[in-house]
Amino acid sequence: MLTACFHEYHRSMNVTAIRSSLLHCLRDPGLSGDASAVEYLPDAITLVRDGYIENVGPAEALLPTLGQGVSIDDQRGKIMVPGFIDTHVHYPQVDVIGAYGTQLLDWLSRYTFPAETKFADRAFADTAAAFFLDRLLENGTTTASVFCTVHPQSVDAFFTASEARGLRMIAGKCLMDRHAPEALMDTAETGYRDTKLLIERWHEHARSLYAITPRFAPTSTIAQMEKMKALSHEHPTTYIQSHVAENKAEIAWAAELFPGHRSYLDIYDHYCLLRDKAIYGHCIYLDDADRARMTAAGARPSFCPTSNLFIGSGLYDLKQAIAAGNVVGVGTDVGGGTSYSMLRTLGEAYKVQQLQGTSLSPAYALYLATLGGAKALSLDDKLGSIAPGKEADFALLDPKATPLLARRTAVLDDPLDTFFALMTLGDDRAVAATYANGVCVHSRPG
Ligand code: GUN
Ligand code: ZN
Repeated sequence: MLTACFHEYHRSMNVTAIRSSLLHCLRDPGLSGDASAVEYLPDAITLVRDGYIENVGPAEALLPTLGQGVSIDDQRGKIMVPGFIDTHVHYPQVDVIGAYGTQLLDWLSRYTFPAETKFADRAFADTAAAFFLDRLLENGTTTASVFCTVHPQSVDAFFTASEARGLRMIAGKCLMDRHAPEALMDTAETGYRDTKLLIERWHEHARSLYAITPRFAPTSTIAQMEKMKALSHEHPTTYIQSHVAENKAEIAWAAELFPGHRSYLDIYDHYCLLRDKAIYGHCIYLDDADRARMTAAGARPSFCPTSNLFIGSGLYDLKQAIAAGNVVGVGTDVGGGTSYSMLRTLGEAYKVQQLQGTSLSPAYALYLATLGGAKALSLDDKLGSIAPGKEADFALLDPKATPLLARRTAVLDDPLDTFFALMTLGDDRAVAATYANGVCVHSRPG
């Protein structure tokens, strides 16, 4: 069901001034969190025109300059943050979230592949895409890098729904021509052809961006890997998304299927699938040479803490990745992951780093979910901070959303401490409203 304010999207675009407090990153604050990289305005005006941020600054300075026709959306008490960016998620896995008792390879065959077969049905895919996007929006997420299924119609369903909501989204059809149920396989040739058609239909259409999507190396033959190499060369502005080095049994299987490679990552490298705009989920078991190669090639890891914990994959070492120069994003990876909430995902990211003796600062956590995520997706010229000229995607967080949050945040003075409380205790209840393309696409009732 669409939220009430979604319908405003279809009205003509105009100028709106939103009054709230505002918290965002101006640059990379580093893992330990250089507070000077973060800007906080206790009472700000964000002026939005035709989907873009036109101006932002203290209310005291901007209010007197606003023209007569400018309506003010008064959100005082809420904290505006850039729309969250989920760098790795599967929309067709809405029905397998929280599936009991397996690790990656069994989880795929027992739960995930059967669920994905349903997306051959366009009507089913339409409903799931709408449901999924409404979950993202209620969690303040406005951009994601999204896996569809092998079925081209699952991509049509997804982009139709995301464009109806005015969203900037990256998505693609899974390429998989072996080691999957018959109903979920393409061939090297049909995968190539269908991907090309989808790129022509959706890449850079409205705010949509296409990702060439090898599911993971074990479900593609060498012939299909060769076709993906061709696709990547023929369409250099597209994205690439896949999985790598997530689970030990998966890594052993990939080595068996592709003998002679130095590492799992090297398989993708061999087929020219490491480049700028290539995002790899998990990357838990990369070694130093792999991490250096990711940096040199411009490929980006997506850290998926709730998934890595839930399906028992392992602990991602963020400090090591950053030291190697990797540009890391964070992903929910639902349905391996257990929440669409980037706040909760950051809370789990913090715990995963704690287990390895590193404290993820609230400033860096905010960065990972916003400007850092945008950078990981090469979209930081458009997204990730609240600055003139950027696309007007943001969320309004409510530090008093629950009795516990209200009590905890009442004793905090520092806005970054408040953000830390939100990522430790918050979820969709803490997202009062979400705006995409300058329009309110979700507002929490009450
Ligand atoms: N590896 C290959 N496919 C998948 C998937 O759907 N989820 C996760 N977490 N890992 C994968
Ligand atoms: Zn995944």
